[in-house]
Amino acid sequence: AIIGLSAIFTPIVSSSASAKENLETYNWTREDVSNLTINAQNTAPEIKKDELVEMTSESYIWDSWPLQEKNGHPAVVNGFKIIFALSVPNDVLPGKRHDTAEIHYFFSKDGKSWESGGPVFKDGDALGSRQWAGSSIVHKDGKLQIFYTATGDKNETQLSYDQRVATATADITTTNTSVTFENWSDHEIILEPDGEYYQTNEQTGPEESSYAFRDPYFFQDPKTGEEYLLFEANSAGKLEDRSYNDEYIGSVKFRQNHENPESSKAFNGSIGIAKASNQGLSKFNILPPLLEANYVNDELERPSVIVKGNNYYLFAKTHSEKFATGLHAPEGLYGFTSDSLFGGYQPLNESGLVIANPTDNPYQAYSWMVMPNGTVTSFVNYVNVDGKDIYEIGEQSPDYQMEHFGGMLAPSLKLSLTRNESKIVHEKKQGVFK
Ligand code: FRU
Repeated sequence: AIIGLSAIFTPIVSSSASAKENLETYNWTREDVSNLTINAQNTAPEIKKDELVEMTSESYIWDSWPLQEKNGHPAVVNGFKIIFALSVPNDVLPGKRHDTAEIHYFFSKDGKSWESGGPVFKDGDALGSRQWAGSSIVHKDGKLQIFYTATGDKNETQLSYDQRVATATADITTTNTSVTFENWSDHEIILEPDGEYYQTNEQTGPEESSYAFRDPYFFQDPKTGEEYLLFEANSAGKLEDRSYNDEYIGSVKFRQNHENPESSKAFNGSIGIAKASNQGLSKFNILPPLLEANYVNDELERPSVIVKGNNYYLFAKTHSEKFATGLHAPEGLYGFTSDSLFGGYQPLNESGLVIANPTDNPYQAYSWMVMPNGTVTSFVNYVNVDGKDIYEIGEQSPDYQMEHFGGMLAPSLKLSLTRNESKIVHEKKQGVFK
């Protein structure tokens, strides 16, 4: 009988990682977003900029990420914690920072006082005319690998918006007081939009507000050991070629009483994923998106995933004005959960909303990043805006922008996650990633 058992069991267990990867893309629906409530569990405490400290007095920083172990936990290298951040000198107009962004790094032994290491890359090495967000890991042999967005073309004379995922590796060298990166590899483009799952720049029409193929996030699935990059993208195709699907909107019952304006078709944000096919993490196979927000949202930025117990928690950040016409939702962190990486997602808290900026300080923080233990970091964006729409003010009011922009790390938050619910538990200090 004992011999017979294994003979019975072997053929039945057929779930391989690749079978699971074929599962359906999850649709974040207009119905989900309509379930949204703003409450004490998801509203961040007000940020008081005057009480905060800058890591550097010369530059602004925004999207930030720590050096991570492959399991997602912040790494410590010879006693040093290391943070990467998009940066520009602080005489650049905050609204213009994306045009000249560079990746800088900071290191610290106590996690409180940070030393600036300056630009991560040597002059001229990085791809793109500027570099946008990414993630950084340390390999077992101690090597740094950074994944980043190469935006625009290296020697362009006019700003362009092509986005591709790039990578490079280096040795991490430390002394008692310093961290440097040496022996850089060549920089390589490893992912570009394919036009079939992910929209290319050419497929993006003038009536669409944005195009994205950026913000690579490394993830090793603890259940399978497989390695992936998640990224921000848009559903493929030209506006006129993308078809409508009832499932983008919600249930039959919801659709009966819901108006879905034609203009919401241009909103096609997605969370993409690609699977590593070599150990050096330079070759990836592009897979169908984990999530699409067609008719719902246009920009699902800096996606990432953590695993708690049996559950995957998938996160992305977005702005109020990136929600399609007819939907009302705050600038914030949104999340979804499933017991498998591919498919079966449900929005957290019914709608997806996890962290909202407070209503009277609606742009105070952005670019939240959830660490495996539930600590969430972000940066200070625009504070004390007196009900003004900061994106409308845009470039017209330089002084206003300068005065109200933070450009520094925000106090971290602690998030608790239980099944399909989340809750902001308390505030932590700036620079706490663990
Ligand atoms: C989020 C973001 C990212 C992008 C970067 C560009 O704050 O829009 O998606 O990589 O900023 O500055």
